Amino acid sequence: MLRLIRRLSIAVILVLSLAWGVVGLAARDPQGYAANLVTYVSDVVNGARSGGLASKIQVGGPFALTNMLGEPVTDQSWPHRWKLIYFGYTYCPDVCPTELQTISSALDQLGPEADRIVPLFITIDPGRDTPATLAGYVKLFDPRLIGLTGTDAQIATVAREFRVYYARVTPKDAAAYLMDHSSFVYLMSPDGQLRALIQPGTTAESMAAAIRAQVAAATG
Ligand code: NI
Repeated sequence: MLRLIRRLSIAVILVLSLAWGVVGLAARDPQGYAANLVTYVSDVVNGARSGGLASKIQVGGPFALTNMLGEPVTDQSWPHRWKLIYFGYTYCPDVCPTELQTISSALDQLGPEADRIVPLFITIDPGRDTPATLAGYVKLFDPRLIGLTGTDAQIATVAREFRVYYARVTPKDAAAYLMDHSSFVYLMSPDGQLRALIQPGTTAESMAAAIRAQVAAATG
């Protein structure tokens, strides 16, 4: 009995320290934490793991936002089409332009198949990214890109659903703030299921291949 109690105590301490470690990691390194979570979810989606906690992790969900014409749109606005979703902001100095360029190149490589994909650029900086600002920005990369903005609450909701990390940061002596944000590209099937999570820095060739494979698998 004593031995059982001792083992239980050790188990409880292990669980508590693990939980504490995860919380501590999330607070110190939110981007790394988000990346780990997303990598884990990605493994599940790709069938590397199955069951358990992972099957309960939902990525994606319904959203209500505003398009570049100032019109309301939802996740249901493009029926029967796949969505390639990227979260960022137009003032982004580095990562966003690179990723949007990659998305554009990947769509080019898909050829006519790209017509089945709606590329969405959802801002995590709705205070500055108005519909007009987004329109002027995305056309620099690709005419097919659709920029979406919304109220702070709408953006917070969609970001939470997609496990997107974002935070305002103001560098010393900077006139304007920057947004720190996670930079994954999400491939969603027409019925709203996450089919691929594409890491930042992926080549256009790999992105196109991932999209082609998932669309082919779904259509048989
Ligand atoms: Ni960015």
